[in-house]
Amino acid sequence: MSTKEQVVTRHSFPVRVAHWLVVLSFLLLAISGLGLFFPSLNWMTSVLGSPQLAQFLHPVFGVVMVLGMVILFFGNVAHAFPEKGDGQWMMHMVDVLKGHEHEVAEVGQYNAGQKMLFWTIIGLLAILLVTGIIVWQPYFAPFFAVSIVRLCLFLHSLCAVLLIMAIFMHAYMGFWYKGTLRGMVYGTVTRSWAKLHHPRWLRQLEGKKK
Ligand code: HEM
Repeated sequence: MSTKEQVVTRHSFPVRVAHWLVVLSFLLLAISGLGLFFPSLNWMTSVLGSPQLAQFLHPVFGVVMVLGMVILFFGNVAHAFPEKGDGQWMMHMVDVLKGHEHEVAEVGQYNAGQKMLFWTIIGLLAILLVTGIIVWQPYFAPFFAVSIVRLCLFLHSLCAVLLIMAIFMHAYMGFWYKGTLRGMVYGTVTRSWAKLHHPRWLRQLEGKKK
């Protein structure tokens, strides 16, 4: 921690690189996936050149995203388990959204909402990965019955839509809470931000430094 600038380190460099790699691949996956799935959105595939190119690149970006997500997972999972105060945070969600979260519970590295979103993203990605491999033409799909491939296509599209909604919410929160985004960009957050949103995390961090 630098006392001069009053900032604390929140996200390491490898985690930040992995996060923005995941964001980039997610955007390319969402654009190509929506373009390939909905005939009316077919024009979106031109972002990647052509529908044929989009079909080829979509699973490749999927693999890149999963690799980035593995780093993000191991960089954050230790802080994603339920802790004391999470139930209280959930029950007072309205107060939290009104900006009184510091009065509700002493939040650690992540609040209960972030933890739930984290596991939702991981769960959806796991289903997307398995179903994505099964429907991957021409490499893996021929090994499976047509009915299985169809079911997986349905599950893959459903989970993709749910993931887009979850990420929309996650990104909105990142912008909504002023000072949060800089943690994922520069790696540091202000001490006052940490004290307001994650006081227990700050206390533990400063306790370790002493
Ligand atoms: C434009 C899109 C996105 C923005 C603006 C954004 C922003 C952020 C910010 C600011 C944090 C730090 C939160 C904190 O320090 O408390 C964060 C963490 C995180 N982000 Fe994103 N993110 C975006 C997309 C994604 C995507 C696509 C994924 C994965 C599919 C993702 C997964 C994560 C994970 C796992 C964390 C760790 C902490 C947590 O779960 O909240 N993000 N993101």
